Amino acid sequence: MLDRRRLCLALLSGAAILSMPLKSRAQPAYNDRQKAFRLDGGGVTYAFGINTKGQLETLHWGGRLGDGDTLGPVTARGDHSSFDLAISVSPLEYSGFGGGMVIEPGLKVACPDGSRDVVLTYLSHSLEGSTISVRLKDIARNIYVDLRYIMDADTGILSRSAVVENRTDDWIDVQHFAAAILNLPVNDDYRLHYLTGRWAAEWTLQERPLEAGSTVLESRRGSTGHQNNPWIAISRADTDEEDGPVWFGALGWSGSWRITVDKDAVGGVHVVAGYNPFDFDYRLAPGETLESPTFYAGYSDHGMGGASRLMHRFQRNHILPGHPAPKIRPVLYNSWEATTFAVDARGQMALAEKAASLGIERFVMDDGWFGGRNSDKAGLGDWWVNPQKFPKGLKPLISKVRSLGMEFGLWVEPEMVNADSDLYRAHPDWIINFRDRPRTEGRNQMVLNLARPDVRDHLLGVLDSLLRDHDISFLKWDYNRNWSEPGWPDVAPDQQPKLYVEYIRNLYGLLAELRRRHPHVEIESCAGGGGRVDMGIMALTDQVWPSDNTDPYDRLTMQEGFSHAYAPAVMMAWVTDSPNWVNQRSTSLAYRFLSSMQGGLGIGANLNHWDKSDFATAKRLIAEYKTIRKTVQHGNLYRLISPRNGSNRSVTLSVSADKSQAVLFAFVHSSTKLDALPAITLRGLDPRKIYSIRVIEGGFDPRTPPTASGAYWMTHGLSVPQKGDFQGSLFGFEVQI
Ligand code: DGJ
Repeated sequence: MLDRRRLCLALLSGAAILSMPLKSRAQPAYNDRQKAFRLDGGGVTYAFGINTKGQLETLHWGGRLGDGDTLGPVTARGDHSSFDLAISVSPLEYSGFGGGMVIEPGLKVACPDGSRDVVLTYLSHSLEGSTISVRLKDIARNIYVDLRYIMDADTGILSRSAVVENRTDDWIDVQHFAAAILNLPVNDDYRLHYLTGRWAAEWTLQERPLEAGSTVLESRRGSTGHQNNPWIAISRADTDEEDGPVWFGALGWSGSWRITVDKDAVGGVHVVAGYNPFDFDYRLAPGETLESPTFYAGYSDHGMGGASRLMHRFQRNHILPGHPAPKIRPVLYNSWEATTFAVDARGQMALAEKAASLGIERFVMDDGWFGGRNSDKAGLGDWWVNPQKFPKGLKPLISKVRSLGMEFGLWVEPEMVNADSDLYRAHPDWIINFRDRPRTEGRNQMVLNLARPDVRDHLLGVLDSLLRDHDISFLKWDYNRNWSEPGWPDVAPDQQPKLYVEYIRNLYGLLAELRRRHPHVEIESCAGGGGRVDMGIMALTDQVWPSDNTDPYDRLTMQEGFSHAYAPAVMMAWVTDSPNWVNQRSTSLAYRFLSSMQGGLGIGANLNHWDKSDFATAKRLIAEYKTIRKTVQHGNLYRLISPRNGSNRSVTLSVSADKSQAVLFAFVHSSTKLDALPAITLRGLDPRKIYSIRVIEGGFDPRTPPTASGAYWMTHGLSVPQKGDFQGSLFGFEVQI
């Protein structure tokens, strides 16, 4: 059985904040005379105060202020007009729907007497170690909200969350609950950046002026979703990749979520992030509490590149399993594109032998190994080994893989069930559904109601025995549809909408418990590609599968989009067959490798179709990758030339933390006429150190010196002549001692 207490501890991404080492948290301060709280970390100061109406008001979120700067006390604003009362045009740290609030609030509740307003004012605060907790209370009812603030001393990234507590004598329904409201300084030239997509086309970076009104980014799908990702950045008009201010943030929640960016009637910009209020209704009995997810908010004045480097560092140091030193991603082989559902012992062993000869470190068998799984129409839910495909079970294959010097990994999709499965036949009541209503299927499957304790315990039991009985080092945890009919008919109607929270809590609890019982097992978060990538799931999984689109050219833009929010340390990319199944584009094997080497490298091609020279190319590039992967995965990423907006080129540079190694990827879509490509100037090197250049793939202008100072590479740069279509070049730079 999954212990409820442990489950709650693993709960939400609060787990990640609590595990932040004390020395890396910024020391907060409260100035009683100024009635102001202040947090300083990295190049950032965040300050807020108690205004003369007892509301919490943002005083500063941006670059670091002087130590002695006066921040308060703050006189509360007056109404702008009878239509725009002060509450809707003030930079409040948190607000309820009440007192005339007409923009997105932090909290909305419904009470048994029919009233639905809550007006929050300051009650008390505490500074414990590095956490500021501020208690707000409704002006009349015993409804409390505790706001929590922790800042990372290194990056200045602020972790914000909230807890609502019902201390009235009756129930209250929480209908809208945000982790935080963040207010930006008033400016009229903001630009909003966010990520959109769909299956096989995730991670499109959108950018547009932040106009008056609301921009709503959300998922109503029960999970993070492909369509919007819970990340935003807001820059000024003249901010570019490396210069200028950027405010950014990401929500750590893998269920339905919403981020609203409101530009109010007087131009104030408010970011509100939390549970998606659509269809949300969480009943709190007297004495009960509800905790929000965590919103991670940062600021950089080094442009979009500076913002993402802070985010990557924060994720490596505080979020990912094994932080502050998460393990380097091994090179993996995955069977999906080669064999789809047609896996069997002989075929997988043959692929494993070939994979091992290339220097692959982890062999992963994908879908098709269990139950009656010969297509996507049957078998999900039946996590027993298919006896026709594996007459002696999985052990002979696993032993073979292990004897070849590789780890063994296995695909699972625990939260789903096909109607044609033993599990569904035995437990048709285990799925999310509304009683006596249709059960809409997606990919012929339905979603198990993981909020139910019996479903949660069943999945824990099944996965635990799978891992106990087999030498498995890695699970690819898939999730291939959205919710429909989000009901939980076995609990009272007023408890049913709790599904939105309890499901995700149990998912996190399940992952945490499996990790505790099997600490050597790594997990990948996959949801038909990148449908479940967020800072909540990242705390419990070691890597993510960004997309089922494995076309190496499409991937360049997707990987660039991904890198705005998430670290290359978790971004897997496979080399697959050409032409690619997505768009029938043909590319060279070297080009496919280079595109995939920008993240955690995997091979997903059918090795049975490769010739000798393919094996030689792959072996060489895998060996090369191992010499640069630490820098690629854990270094500082500079997006030197973006592939977006019709660009013909894509150039990225990764520089190791100590600046001793740099890795330069340069891609061109097509060369035209006899046009020469402009030189590439590097960034982030030590200008005084001497770096040698090494060609890993492609070539550079023959006049390039074999060694030069960091200053030379960053100012004079490097000419990379590339002719033809879909060309890629890769260079390593090493400091000379
Ligand atoms: C969707 C995943 O994204 C693919 O990589 C593969 O695992 C399939 N599911 C298997 O059904």
